[in-house]
Amino acid sequence: MDSAESAGGRLGAVLLSPRSGVVALGPHGPWLTTTPDQARQVLTDVSGFDFPGDVTRSGDLSASRGETRSGHLVFPPLQPEAVERGLAVFTTEWEAAISTHDPTVQGEPYDAMLLLRRPVARSTTSAVLPSLDRADRDQVADLVLSWIDALAPVIAARRPPRRWSRARRTERDARLALDDALAAIPHLDGPPQMTATMLAAGIQVPIAAGAWLLAWLASHPSDGVDPVSAVWETLRLTPPTWITARITTREVDLGGQRVPSGAVVLVSPLLLGRLHELVPGDPDGLPGFDPHRWQSGVQRPGAWLPFGAGPHACPGRHLGMALLTHLAAWGLSRTLSLTERVTIDQSRGIAPLPCRFTIADGREPVR
Ligand code: HEM
Repeated sequence: MDSAESAGGRLGAVLLSPRSGVVALGPHGPWLTTTPDQARQVLTDVSGFDFPGDVTRSGDLSASRGETRSGHLVFPPLQPEAVERGLAVFTTEWEAAISTHDPTVQGEPYDAMLLLRRPVARSTTSAVLPSLDRADRDQVADLVLSWIDALAPVIAARRPPRRWSRARRTERDARLALDDALAAIPHLDGPPQMTATMLAAGIQVPIAAGAWLLAWLASHPSDGVDPVSAVWETLRLTPPTWITARITTREVDLGGQRVPSGAVVLVSPLLLGRLHELVPGDPDGLPGFDPHRWQSGVQRPGAWLPFGAGPHACPGRHLGMALLTHLAAWGLSRTLSLTERVTIDQSRGIAPLPCRFTIADGREPVR
């Protein structure tokens, strides 16, 4: 598997930057925080740091052009019964996805990013929209997946595509189709656009997280590994939302450094997850996958903020953890092997590409 340490692009630049306070990545920013205290300040002090606004580019907040989302609605955290409902759907749908994988070609690999799409989409949709019957839920889940797919070229583009470009039009059509389906649901909690954002965030990110988890399990021995520890270690080394941004609303003091008003300030859970003060074990071994490090209970996992912090912290974290823990238990009870080298796709958060694996212990489904 390619390591983040050796990755180029923005990911490499962030990991290579000096960890000595707030670092300007260019002559006029963006500014990168490199300590847990600064990161928390940026994410929790809403009077000094605003959320970047344009949802259609939100998978790549580091490329924000400075627009903000002041007055942004707060997403209420998913309640335990919603998490339970989502997990039940994921369990059934994951089993179904595995068993419908075509086993006719001996050794045909499973593609984690494809396999996870429907189980995650249906699970999150069930959790967020309890009133839908199965057919409507599946339709909404597919519309969200189409929107996520249509967003990909918009987000990945080096420059924001023009309003009437094919990428923008395709994205708008997919978004409107989803909005229409959501607007037809009686007693929807909040505007359709807000539900659409919740669904997209709650589907795209866990698909990437689940694929990373399977990639790590397939490339490391897993004897005696506890599923929850495997999940935390995955979210430490490859948090799908590896970087997030805020815009300063005024000049701010960050650990003694003056940052001007209107500046983009970055927080990277991936960088924070490599700080030895937050992670138990040998400091030289921090880039390596070792779930056992969390079994000693010496340090609390999650201090590197894989689910964010403050008012915009992830409202779906309990569902995310539940899905990933189920998937980890599934993966740990089998012998998974990667069939190809996994590289890091940085076009929207981070995702493993390709992420294909076989199940080596003869438990592949038979017809
Ligand atoms: C492993 C799974 C997940 C991870 C790692 C994750 C990570 C994150 C992170 C880091 C943020 C904060 C971004 C920021 O501060 O800029 C966030 C926000 C968000 N997440 Fe998650 N998430 C996961 C699952 C979910 C699920 C299952 C849902 C919905 C059911 C969800 C819905 C959201 C929403 C709506 C936001 C935006 C909150 C706001 O802007 O106020 N996420 N997530």
